[in-house]
Parts: sequence; structure tokens; C-alpha cells
Amino acid sequence: MRIRLWPGSLAARTALVLLLGLATVQVAGLTIHALDRMDVQRLGQARDIAVRVVGLYRTLALTDPARREAVLAELHRGPDLVPTLSASPPNVDLPEMPIPEQRLLRVNMNLVPLGGPQLRWRELVIYGGHFTRRAVIGMLLPDGQWLNVKAELEPLRPWHSPDFLVAFVLMTAAAAGLTLWAVRRLTAPVRTLAEAAEALGRDVNAPPLPENGPTEVAVAAVAFNTMAARIRRFVEDRTELLTAIGHDLRTPITRLKLRAEFVEDEEQRGKILADLEELEAMVSATLAFGRDARTTEQVTHLDLAELLRTILDEAGDANPEVLDKLNYEGPAHLTVQARSLSLKRVFVNLVANAVNYGGSAMVRLVNPDHRMVVVEVEDDGPGIAPGELDRVFEPFHRGEPSRNRETGGVGLGLPIARNIMRAHGGDVVIANRPAGGAKATVTLPV
Ligand SMILES: Nc1ncnc2c1ncn2[C@@H]1O[C@H](COP(=O)(O)OP(=O)(O)O)[C@@H](O)[C@H]1O
Ligand SMILES: [Mg+2]
Repeated sequence: MRIRLWPGSLAARTALVLLLGLATVQVAGLTIHALDRMDVQRLGQARDIAVRVVGLYRTLALTDPARREAVLAELHRGPDLVPTLSASPPNVDLPEMPIPEQRLLRVNMNLVPLGGPQLRWRELVIYGGHFTRRAVIGMLLPDGQWLNVKAELEPLRPWHSPDFLVAFVLMTAAAAGLTLWAVRRLTAPVRTLAEAAEALGRDVNAPPLPENGPTEVAVAAVAFNTMAARIRRFVEDRTELLTAIGHDLRTPITRLKLRAEFVEDEEQRGKILADLEELEAMVSATLAFGRDARTTEQVTHLDLAELLRTILDEAGDANPEVLDKLNYEGPAHLTVQARSLSLKRVFVNLVANAVNYGGSAMVRLVNPDHRMVVVEVEDDGPGIAPGELDRVFEPFHRGEPSRNRETGGVGLGLPIARNIMRAHGGDVVIANRPAGGAKATVTLPV
């Protein structure tokens, strides 16, 4: 319930506050206008009744008392005034007129010119008011007879023409529309910033934000772009450092290899040379990694299902003995946005691990929702020792102590795979299956 009353988004909240403010102002404005209008009407009615009633009075005061009834019947007086001649003041069941209205009518009656002082009424009583929509006025004529007038008061209307309300509603709707539009426009940069941050998470080389618009937005965009540039430079520096170290290690390794040839003990020489080979392989892998990281491959649309099947086919060609243990399960086609060479490297590594350490590979492509694609690579091998699970992602960490040429790499396969997937905004995790064997789960946002 609370969620419905107080919306979550900044745009909706701002719009709600502004619309509430607008509504308050409109209601207050309408009330002030209506009250003022009603006051003016009250004044106008008092003046109108005063003129007409005093007119009647003056005519009758100037008429011979015996002829008054006849004259009164002849006088034009309008349907809303009922005058009677009586020996007594008006006998009414109406409340005393509210003081301000009584005063209003009395003042107005006194303002109407009467003629000579002998014409002035000897007594004046007023009952009723706008609340009862009736007024009764009694005037004692100079000779002792009472002229009592009942007046119907027109209801007070807060606005005059029906067009007023239509115009008012139209104006309010226009203001509300304008408010919604302005709020959407003003909060758009927040969305853009969030999207840019999201894009930067997937790709450090994402294009910069446009640095225009209102000052605050431009300042935020500049700050964001500066931050992105710093992150990019940081990543580049690290990669460059890595490559430089790898590069500089090559020469001493070559020199050592030459020197090792002079070791007399054959067994020792063999061991030294094997170690140096291993070192060289590590350096080469490091350099390859640095090279990959520096080539900024473009993100393209690619068919992930197709890619996975191709990798399995290639793995089957390379290892004919496990050909019947390589399986793909999932849709025939699924388009994702990614860097195709990098993604290929990830799955080649994972499938190679499954084949080399598990003797089989089951690749499953699932698309659990419209935001994430999940690929699982499973095998039926021995799995990974629980203590090793965290460490397999460390660079150069291998389950096997020797850097065996047959089982592939130097221990950079998983760290590189994770690196690539995280650069795509996804991830790789590895776990043991309850049924035995290991399972690598790759997530990729679409
Ligand atoms: N499917 C798997 N089954 C068992 N062990 C695995 C599996 N995948 C990876 N490992 C272990 O994780 C280590 C690191 O893997 P990786 O980073 O690909 O390096 P490499 O394959 O070059 O040894 C491997 O040496 C292996 O011990
Ligand atoms: Mg590997």
C-alpha cells in the first residue's frame, strides 16, 4: 500500500510532489476567486433590492393612504418582490439577518435618495439573508402604516459561466501535462548516467557520455568521463606492465637455456631445461594475454548456440576418443551481443578443461530470463578438490603440479575466462556437481 502511495522512481516522485502542489494552488485559487465573486454578488443584490424597495416606499409615502393599496397593485415590482401594506411590522419566522448582510442592505437603502426629510421612514427592520435566500424588510411610513416587502434572493454562484469550469479544467490539465513532460525531461540524465555506468561495467572502452545539457548534468558527465578515462588508463597500465615484464623475461630465459647446455650432469640439465621450458610457456601465455587485453575487439551480434556447437565440433576433431561424450543441449540459435573472439576463447578453455580433466563435456545453453544467458559446461570427471575451488581462478594455479603439455595450459585458462566474462558484465563460477564431475557456469547479460 505504501509503495503505491509513494512511487519509487525519482521522476514519479517529483511529478507527484509537483502535481500535489499544483492541485493545492488551484484549489486555493479557485476558492479565493469564488469567495470574492460571491461577495460581489451579495453587494450587487443588496444594491438592487435597496433601489427597488426604496422606490416602492417613496411612491407609497407620497400617495394618499386610502389609495395606497390600489397604487401598490399597479406598481411594477418584479416577481421576486412581494410588498404588502400592514398595520404592524412584518411577522416572520426568519432568523435575524446576519449582521454584515443586514448592515450591507441597510447601508444600501440609506444610500438611495429619498427626497425631503418628511419622507424618511420612521423605523426599518430587516430579516433573513443569503443563507435562507430570503429577506423581509419592514418600513414604517410617516403616517404609521407599515410597508413590508418579502424579497427572494438569487442563489450565489461561485462562478458565472459554465465555460469558466471548462477553461479551469483545461488549464489544470495543461499545467499537469507540462509538469509531467518537464519532470521526464529533467530526470532523463539520471537514467543516461545509470546506463553509462552499466555500459562501463561491461566494457571499459564504452563511448563517453555527451558533456552538454544543464550545468549540473554536464558537470556529472565530465566527472563520469574522467573516471572512465582513469579506469581505462589504470587497466592499460597494468596490462602494459605485465607485457613488459613478460617481454623482458624472455632474453634471460634464452640465455639460461644456452648456459644450461653446459651443465655436465645430464639429469640436472634435463630438469633445468624442462623448468625453463615451463617458464617460457608461462611467459608466452602472459604475453598472449596482454596482447588480447590490448586489442579492443568490437562488440557484435553473434549466435552463441552456433559458437558453442562449433567449439564442440573442434574439440571432437582434436580428441576423437571422446567424440561421443561431447554434447550440446539448448536452442538451435540464440543471438547475444559480445566480442566473438574473446567469447570463443572462454568456451574453448572451459570445454578443453572438461575434456582434459573430466573426459567428457556437456554444454547446456539456457536463457532463464530476457536479461541473462547462462551456459553450463559439465563433465563426469573427478571434479575439483573442495580446497581448490577458489584457487583455480588464480593465475598460474594448476591442479597438476607439472605443466604438462598434454593437458594443455599453464594455469591461465580460468583466470582469462573470468577476466573476459567480467569485462562483458557477466561471470564464470565453477562448482562440483552432486552427481560427480565439475560444472562451470557462465553468465552473460544480453
Ligand atoms: N573440469 C575440471 N575438472 C577438474 N579440474 C579442473 C577442471 N577445470 C579446471 N580444473 C583445474 O583447475 C586448474 C586450472 O585450470 P585452468 O585455469 O584452465 O588452467 P590449465 O587448464 O591451464 O591448467 C586446472 O589445472 C585443473 O586442475
Ligand atoms: Mg585450461
